[in-house]
Amino acid sequence: QTFFKPIHQTEPPSPTKRHIKITVIGTGNVGMAIAQTILTQDLADELALVDAKPDKLRGEMLDLQHAAAFLPRTKIVASVDYDVTAGSDLCIVTAGARQNPGESRLSLLHRNVALFRNIIQPLAQHSPDSILMIVSNPVDILTYVAWKISGFPSNRVIGSGTNLDSSRFRFLIADHLDVNAQDVQAYIVGEHGDSSVALWSSISVGGVPVLSFLEKQQIAYEKETLEKIHKTVIESAYEVIRLKGYTSWAIGYSVANLARSVLRNQRRIHPVSVLAKGFYGIDGGEVFLSLPAQLGRGGVLGVTNVHLTEEEEQQLRDSAKTLLEVQNQLGL
Ligand code: NAI
Ligand code: LAC
Repeated sequence: QTFFKPIHQTEPPSPTKRHIKITVIGTGNVGMAIAQTILTQDLADELALVDAKPDKLRGEMLDLQHAAAFLPRTKIVASVDYDVTAGSDLCIVTAGARQNPGESRLSLLHRNVALFRNIIQPLAQHSPDSILMIVSNPVDILTYVAWKISGFPSNRVIGSGTNLDSSRFRFLIADHLDVNAQDVQAYIVGEHGDSSVALWSSISVGGVPVLSFLEKQQIAYEKETLEKIHKTVIESAYEVIRLKGYTSWAIGYSVANLARSVLRNQRRIHPVSVLAKGFYGIDGGEVFLSLPAQLGRGGVLGVTNVHLTEEEEQQLRDSAKTLLEVQNQLGL
């Protein structure tokens, strides 16, 4: 187990449990993108939807049910009452305010913490053995809030984190190199947001570290090109929000990608928001940040001890400090 360091040891649920139930809280742009991807990818036997707007909620449920002839059979239920979520294996939380054009994710904190105080407790009460996956922003701090309110062990509270940022990073690198994004390994870690950290040393294409790949392909290596790509990743959400008002499709696929790794016990490594205290010199308090973590049916099975440069470790610590300064004002 030297490659992975566990963050909390709990027994995974019995593998004999065959009926997989996923709950999605919040049936807005993001919640519905996630819901339809879960259905398309046949990830659950039952999908429960909860929202604060009863008509919107019922309309979304009916609209999805009407696609039944084209999809694997999945029971779809919806209610404003958390009873409908009982016995969920995975609870995905997307409820909350979203950024207006130009607005930062951190600016949403107080509005969304107030919502979480009413969402997380009933969710945890009805599905005490579930894994919580937090998507609402600011996702790293809200994952901490969900951990505190739920009382769940930290391995069962995961933030979607920079799994999305890393996908954007992989797309842009693949586009630059004219290769398939699925053959590009590249991690962005830290805050899902403006202070994210690109792990340059993690970038490989078809298993070949990118720097030597660029040399072999005689593609002029420009450090600033990769830094420009990381800057584009950080600006991505702001640009999409400016253009269409919100982001939804990429986060929908990102969360389904994470849900598959958890529910199918894939033991795959994803950059997701985990309790980062104690890793890479992060010791200023209990903070959730994205680190490359192994995901399986028990949630976070371990955090990889990847080598980071001193600069990358310092950037992570700075990211943690930024989040802790905001988080400590919550009094949780
Ligand atoms: P939206 O406004 O379309 O949907 C939010 C939904 O939450 C609405 O349907 C609303 O009725 C519901 N809601 C509000 N209060 C609720 C409560 N107390 N209980 C249940 N439902 C409640 O917003 P959108 O675009 O879906 O974004 C949702 C959140 O996801 C935002 O915080 C946004 O920043 C975040 N997000 C996070 C991403 C990530 O990578 N972590 C990516 C994209 C969005
Ligand atoms: C994103 C923002 C909305 O799409 O969190 O990255």
